[in-house]
Amino acid sequence: MNLAVMGLQWGDEGKGKAIDYLAGDFDVVVRFQGGHNAGHTVCFKGQRVVLHLLPSGIFRPNIISVIGNGVVVNPLELVKEIKEVEHLGLLLENLVISAHAPLILPYHQLLDVIFEDSRYTKIGTTRRGIGPAYEDLSGRRAVFVGDLFDKDRFYRKIEPLNNYYNKLIQAFGGQEISIDSYIDDYLEAGRVLKPFAGHTAYLLNDFLAAHKSILFESAQGILLDINLGTYPFVTSSNPSVGGIFPGTGLSHKALDRVVGITKAYTTRVGEGPFPSELSGQAADFLRRKGNEYGATTGRPRRVGWLDLVALKYAIMVNGVDDIFLTKLDVLDDLDEIQVVTTYEVDGRMTPVFDPGIDYLDRVKPVLTPFPGWKQEIEHCRDYASLPGEARNYISFIEDFTGIKVKYISVGTDRDQTIQV
Ligand code: GDP
Ligand code: IMO
Ligand code: MG
Repeated sequence: MNLAVMGLQWGDEGKGKAIDYLAGDFDVVVRFQGGHNAGHTVCFKGQRVVLHLLPSGIFRPNIISVIGNGVVVNPLELVKEIKEVEHLGLLLENLVISAHAPLILPYHQLLDVIFEDSRYTKIGTTRRGIGPAYEDLSGRRAVFVGDLFDKDRFYRKIEPLNNYYNKLIQAFGGQEISIDSYIDDYLEAGRVLKPFAGHTAYLLNDFLAAHKSILFESAQGILLDINLGTYPFVTSSNPSVGGIFPGTGLSHKALDRVVGITKAYTTRVGEGPFPSELSGQAADFLRRKGNEYGATTGRPRRVGWLDLVALKYAIMVNGVDDIFLTKLDVLDDLDEIQVVTTYEVDGRMTPVFDPGIDYLDRVKPVLTPFPGWKQEIEHCRDYASLPGEARNYISFIEDFTGIKVKYISVGTDRDQTIQV
């Protein structure tokens, strides 16, 4: 069986934890979109590692890890991450990187910063060059991982782009970038990456034919999807099920089931609408207890209650079969927990989540309260041992969405997971 794990909120749902937990039952884990804007935390045997580009199954023995052609790759960051993981004693024999993954170049990163600083409406990007790199892909001028393996070809491709972007950088008063300042580092990174590079579309289809089981790891979350998310406050890729196919070269026939992952509340990093957002003491409590600081940028995450209207939309557009609910333990101490069950828009109640900002700015969330359980649950390892109030909260989510909560996470560690 091949399974996709999709973020159902604005990212940081706990995908790293979920993938590491689930990967034990799979042969292959594949990243198919995003780049090192992602920060996926994996905790096991007393270790805590944040992965940005390497798939989160990497710590499981015998797993094949694939970085698909839909991922934008900063080769310097990837090499750094490979070295860090090797430093932990891991041999990366089973890592394959698509030679057809678009590169992030220094001008992408600088343009991300320049655009962000000059924008009237700031997105709050991770400033990693993700958007400008995907723009080059759509603009049909991207340079790929495979281009790093041929010095002349690489130079031929980057020279006109570097010149073109320098004009833009100059116009914004930025410091021009000389090719000499980075070409050797990029070519050196290419030498490190070459043994891992391959034609991942064929490879993955061969795995499929050989009945190997594949786990697809989304980065970000559906509400940051360029087409289906809260545009323009989104990322520049498709962290939706539809992104899997062009990002891997597998067809829809390769996907059997979809697990959607959501926190027991909601967070968001960066700008944009967030109907159930909290402020004041309640927000401070959730941020502190949930350690809600970005795994990539360290920024404090905005926090709020679980929004079931948004969750139902996320489930609908991804075709979710099962829910993976994380961070339930963060709610342990609360007297009362609230969830958004409907929206009031222009004086009318509606179950519709329209990702358009004009709509979401008019939304007033309508909340339903639940009694808290007021006890620690991080030691619970089966459903029956959860307090009644926690089971009641989960049942409500299931009834509202019509989807079973199959996995419940009650702590950061791989083992702190209940499978129902
Ligand atoms: P990702 O981007 O979806 O992989 O999520 P991040 O790693 O950015 O953020 C999730 C954070 O929550 C990480 O610090 C995880 O270690 C932590 N986490 C994951 N699941 C749980 C859980 O069930 N309980 C608690 N307390 N923390 C969790
Ligand atoms: P993981 O995989 C949370 C957000 C940024 C910003 C917007 C656009 O760890 O869940 P970008 O740099 O992609 O152009 O920024 O998207 N963002 C994330 N938020 N988790 C992520 O990844 C994110 N990746 C991007 O904060 O609002
Ligand atoms: Mg993250």
